[in-house]
Amino acid sequence: MAHTDTSPYYITTAISYPNGRPHIGHAYEAIAADVIARFQRLRGRTVRFQTGTDEHGLKMARKAEEQGRTARDLADEMSGYFQEMCDALNVGYDRFIRTVEADHHRASQAIWRRMEAAGDLYLDRYEGWYSVRDEAYYDESELVEGEGGAKLSPQNTPVEWTVEESWFFRLSKYEEPLLELLKSPGFLEPASRRNEMIAFVEQGLRDLSVSRTSFDWGVKVPNSDNHVMYVWVDALTNYLTGLGFPDDTAMMRDFWPADLHLIGKDIVRFHTIYWPAFLMSADLPLPKKVFGHGFLLARGGEKMSKSLGNVVDPLELANTFGIDALRYFLLREVAFGQDGSYSPEAIVTRANAELANSFGNLAQRTLSMIFKNMDGTLEAFETSDVDDALLGEVADACRNVLPDEFEKLAFSNGIEAWMRAVYACNQYVDEQAPWTLKKTDPERMKVVLQTLFVALRDLAVAIQPVVPEKAAALLDQMGVPQGQRSYADLADTQWFQRLVEAGFALQKPQGIFPRLELPDEAEV
Ligand code: MSP
Repeated sequence: MAHTDTSPYYITTAISYPNGRPHIGHAYEAIAADVIARFQRLRGRTVRFQTGTDEHGLKMARKAEEQGRTARDLADEMSGYFQEMCDALNVGYDRFIRTVEADHHRASQAIWRRMEAAGDLYLDRYEGWYSVRDEAYYDESELVEGEGGAKLSPQNTPVEWTVEESWFFRLSKYEEPLLELLKSPGFLEPASRRNEMIAFVEQGLRDLSVSRTSFDWGVKVPNSDNHVMYVWVDALTNYLTGLGFPDDTAMMRDFWPADLHLIGKDIVRFHTIYWPAFLMSADLPLPKKVFGHGFLLARGGEKMSKSLGNVVDPLELANTFGIDALRYFLLREVAFGQDGSYSPEAIVTRANAELANSFGNLAQRTLSMIFKNMDGTLEAFETSDVDDALLGEVADACRNVLPDEFEKLAFSNGIEAWMRAVYACNQYVDEQAPWTLKKTDPERMKVVLQTLFVALRDLAVAIQPVVPEKAAALLDQMGVPQGQRSYADLADTQWFQRLVEAGFALQKPQGIFPRLELPDEAEV
C-alpha cells in the first residue's frame, strides 16, 4: 500500500476585520480553508487550521466611535458573529484567534523586538497617504482619480493625508531577497498574481511606517508611551501567535513555517511583501505558500456593498439551502483563484442537478433496491468486465484525479471529475436496469447493485471534505466504519468482505440531498 504522508500541515485564513457582520465573501474563504484542512486530514496529514478576527487599527476605532461605543465592545460583538458563522458552516478550526488576546500582544511585541534587534526599525516622521478602509499606506504614484477628482487608493477607497511621528521598518533592505522569493515557483499562487507583486518590488521599496501615535487602539510598541503598532504588523503576527510564539513550543517546531496562507487577492501585498520581510528581519522561516483567491461577487458580477443592498448573510443562505449544498456550490461553481458570482438561482440549479438528481439519486436508488430486493444484506460477488470498467473509472476519479486536483487547489476540476464518475454510475444503472434483472436474472441484479454499493463508498469518501455532513450520513447508512474513511482507506479492498462477514444489513435508506426549491424573492 502507498505510504501515507502524516507530516504536519498548517493552514490559515486571513483574519477578518470585525467592523461589521460577516458576509458571503468571508464565508467563502473560511469554507475553502476548511475543505483544504479536511482534505489534508483525510490524506493522513496532521493538520492545524487557524482563523479569527483582526481587531485593532483605525478602521475599528472609527467604526466604534461612529456607534458611540468602545472598540473593544464592537470587536467583542462582531467577532462573536464571525465565530458563529464558522461554527454554523462546519468550519473546523483548531483556533479562532482574536488579536485582542494577551498571548497575541506578547507575540507581536516579541517579533517587534526581533526586528529592532536586527537594526531594522528607526524613528522618523510619516508624511503621506493612508486608506483607513484598506489600513494601508500608499505612494502618491499609486493613487487613482475618483469622481470629482477625489484621490482614491488603487482599491478605490478614500485616502487621507497623514503626518505623524512613526517607527519605520527598513523594507528597502529586503528588495533582493523578496524578488527572489516572489520568483520562486509555488510561493505565490495563482501565478497570475505574481507579476503585479514583482513589478511593485522592482519599482523600488520605500521603508514602511509601522507605528501610529494619533490613536491608541492597538498593540503597544515595546518601551514606548505613545506608539501602537501599525495594525498589519500585529495582524500578520497572528499566524505565529497561534503556535505559541515566541516560546519554543512543540507547535512552533511542528507547524512553522505555515504550509498555506489562504487569503483574498486584495491583500496579497501584505502577505507576500511585508510579511516575508518582517520574518526575514526576525530571522524566522518563511511560509511555504500564499494563495490569493478571487472575489465572490453578487448577481451580475456586482461588488457586494451595503449601499447596493446586495450583501448576503451566509447563515441565511445555509438555512435556506443547507450547509453542504452551499459549500458544494462555492467550491464547484468558482474556479479557485478567479472571481465568481452567486445567486439563489445558481445555487438551486447546481445543487439540484448534481447533488439531488445525480449523486443523491444514485445513492437513494442503489440503497433502496438493496434494501427491498436483498433484504438490505450484502454477499460476496463476482464482477464481470462491465462492472470492473465502472469500478475502475470511479476509483480513478476518487483516488487519483480528485486528490491530485485538490492538492493543487483546483477544486472545481476535482469535483468535475468526481461528478463524471457519478454520471457513469447513473448510466450504468440505466443500462443494467436492475429492476428488470430482478425478474430475469436475480443473481446478476445482486452483482449490479453491489457493484454500485462499492462505487458509492468511493464516491462518498472522496467528496467528504466538501460535503462533510452529507457524506458522513451516507457512509453511516452504508456501515462504513468511522475510522475507515480516509483516502488511504480507498485502497483497502477488503472492506466489503468485512461488511459481509460482519452480517451488515442496511436499514431503510434516508435520502441525503433533498431537491431545493427557489424561495420567494423576499426570503433571500
Ligand atoms: N483584516 C484583514 C486581513 C488580515 S490577515 C493578517 C482583512 N480583513 S477583511 O475582513 O477585509 O477580509 C478578510 C478576508 O476576506 C480577506 O482574505 C479578503 O480578501 C476576503 N474577502 C473579503 N471580501 C471578499 C469577497 N467578496 N469575496 C471573497 N473574499 C473576500 O483584509
